[in-house]
Amino acid sequence: MSIQQEKIKKLVERRASARLGGGQKRIDAQHQKGKLTARERIALLLDEGSFEEFDMFVQHRCTNFDMDKQHFDGDGVVTGQGTIDGRPVYVFAQDFTVSGGSLSKTMSEKICKVMDMALRNGAPCIGLNDSGGARIQEGIDALAGYGEIFERNILSSGVIPQISGIFGPCAGGAVYSPALTDFTLMVKDTSYMFLTGPAVVKSVTGEDVNQEQLGGASVHASKSGVAHFAAKDEAEGIAVIKELLSYIPQNNMEEAPMVPTDDPVDRTDDSLNEIIPDSPNKAYDMYRVIGGIVDDGKFFEIHKDFAKNIIIGFAHMNGRSVGIVANQPKILAGVLDINASRKAARFVRFCDAFNIPIVTLVDVPGFLCGTQQEYGAVITNGAKLLYAYGEATVPKVTVTLRKSYGGAHIVMSCKQLRGDLNYAWPSSEIAVMGADGAVNVLYAKEIKAVADPEEQKKIYAEKKAEYDELFSNPYQAAQKGYIDDVIEPRNTRFRVIRALEQLAGKKQEIPAKKHDNLPL
Ligand code: HXC
Repeated sequence: MSIQQEKIKKLVERRASARLGGGQKRIDAQHQKGKLTARERIALLLDEGSFEEFDMFVQHRCTNFDMDKQHFDGDGVVTGQGTIDGRPVYVFAQDFTVSGGSLSKTMSEKICKVMDMALRNGAPCIGLNDSGGARIQEGIDALAGYGEIFERNILSSGVIPQISGIFGPCAGGAVYSPALTDFTLMVKDTSYMFLTGPAVVKSVTGEDVNQEQLGGASVHASKSGVAHFAAKDEAEGIAVIKELLSYIPQNNMEEAPMVPTDDPVDRTDDSLNEIIPDSPNKAYDMYRVIGGIVDDGKFFEIHKDFAKNIIIGFAHMNGRSVGIVANQPKILAGVLDINASRKAARFVRFCDAFNIPIVTLVDVPGFLCGTQQEYGAVITNGAKLLYAYGEATVPKVTVTLRKSYGGAHIVMSCKQLRGDLNYAWPSSEIAVMGADGAVNVLYAKEIKAVADPEEQKKIYAEKKAEYDELFSNPYQAAQKGYIDDVIEPRNTRFRVIRALEQLAGKKQEIPAKKHDNLPL
């Protein structure tokens, strides 16, 4: 064997050893927990053969606690570049088999390198987290590493899409990187996120709670909203990330890919002409409306289990990616509350940052009232959604289906918040409040002054009829140009698509500023 061949053999051996991470025993242990390794995850995520790895031979530089005696090539994270459906992405996947995927300074340098490349080259950055947190032996160096990553998350925000997959532990300050990214996905039963684990919680607050109850996927997908998706296993989680990417552009200077469809633009849906119940107190399912108007009825929902009174997600309309925001009359009558407002606000801002038009479907009785909401700052949180719509310069098409009352009417992408095209179904009621509430406020004293209960009922009914005539329809708003047209429900798909095509070249500015001061 020549010297050169010897050297090549060594390279091949060293690569093979690096690919084993912390060794076969730890890989087996990872599998026994129902988890994949970092490399297996990357292989599932990227197009076959597309992965180019960087920094495979990086080793940590720590000498504390005999760390200089344990070195693993790659140092607990696999980083590189590849493609998903032919589109470039940058990726890092923490390798739990090496020091529990804990973050060393060198690991952070590897992660920062791909984050920088993603930003420079205008491609999404995907982080697959599986880590015991800061590498304890490195102390402040590890913490500094986190700081470097967070700063890059912030600088990349709104420029390239950032997606976090949580495939194992993610604890302490480490949770803030995923929280800074655009979308966070967790895997049920094998991943968790919290600032402090159950033992610390017990010692500080006395509360008895296990990892799953404290920060499992179901908790964050339904209660806190920290996770946008909770997958049943890792394969499903990876598939969700890939599908999500198909709706979004590579960066803020591009548009999302078009997805050609055979679904006719002028397809009508007669069932929509029947969907609104006669009684305003009866619910219907907003998913049926969404399914009836988007291409092939296909809707990619985000935050499915969190604040279900509002629905958000992506779909295509005549091949164009759109963000859908819709009140859900089936849950809490579609009322806006703290969680619904912040859920929708973040989504609207994502769509706006990444040139994705927003289609808003309105059936909202108002904001939820009461001390719980007021103490929780429903005012500030509601203002987030108002702000998000008002600042958004992407095409905004709004369809009011039924109720659109009070402050919630304004918040839900009304004309005055620079809504581009605002349509209403004939069943719309656009007013300060519903008829019952209004009659009570305006005529309670007058009605009480009448002794005969039958007469009281009569006056009530008369006043309600008067109010209904005036406001429980879209024509007051249409007369004043606050909505652009009253449309037949069955034609909604066609009308929205035509609006989006009209608005495809939209350009709108906001005044120059350092940055806004969104009510946080
Ligand atoms: C160094 C670590 C480590 C860490 C785990 N390991 N966490 N090494 N620093 N933070 C090592 C273990 O020593 C072990 O090494 C291997 O990883 C696997 O760990 P196990 O404990 O055997 O695995 P498991 O039983 O599955 O438990 C996983 C775990 C536990 C729950 C994550 O390891 C754990 O509690 N780790 C500490 C978590 C933590 O408190 N981190 C700090 C959070 S604060 P060997 O050699 O045996 O394989 C933080 C601040 C960030 O991160 C601030 C940012 C601003």
